[in-house]
Amino acid sequence: MKNIDLHDGIDSTLMILHNRLKVQPNHPGIELVKNYGNLPQVECYAGQLNQVFMNIIANANAIDALEDCQNGAAYSRENIRNPQIQINTARSGSQVQIRIADNGPGMPESVKQRLFDPFFTTKPVGKGTGLGLSISYQIVVDKHGGQMQCFSTPGQGTEFVIDIPIKQS
Ligand SMILES: Nc1ncnc2c1ncn2[C@@H]1O[C@H](COP(=O)(O)OP(=O)(O)OP(=O)(O)O)[C@@H](O)[C@H]1O
Ligand SMILES: [Mg+2]
Repeated sequence: MKNIDLHDGIDSTLMILHNRLKVQPNHPGIELVKNYGNLPQVECYAGQLNQVFMNIIANANAIDALEDCQNGAAYSRENIRNPQIQINTARSGSQVQIRIADNGPGMPESVKQRLFDPFFTTKPVGKGTGLGLSISYQIVVDKHGGQMQCFSTPGQGTEFVIDIPIKQS
């Protein structure tokens, strides 16, 4: 474990995903809204937490109303409402909180209930392993003693809230 500025981890994840967030012939680009608070360094396994950020942001991006357009169909103002990913960070007491929200399709209760199950995916065979969020949950909860929650409303979007202790005891 090392003392890490989590903003660096989030930013390097965003850098890696940059090509998938920017405007492309078949999708309009995703607006990124960052509200970074004043975070202390956090004692953590940096590489593992970066994997968590990667999984959540990749989901938000892939799932965003864009899927329909990905098979080459043109996008238009009508079939996409400005896709957006918002990232908020803040300290709260002895923990830091990272919230990652998208304004994609959200998910029904039946999906939300199985979200963190290994191998649960709604993606077509061969596209998703369904491991992204179950591994992320393990990293946050088991490896760091933190919490990971999901709030989602169909038709409105999804928010993941991660709490990580600043110091491991
Ligand atoms: N931001 C989101 N909006 C809507 N649904 C989501 C979102 N994130 C996850 N999901 C749902 O949760 C399921 C499980 O996600 P998870 O990341 O574990 O697996 P996956 O993305 O299907 O596959 P993998 O990440 O292994 O490629 C997804 O298939 C999808 O149905
Ligand atoms: Mg995934």
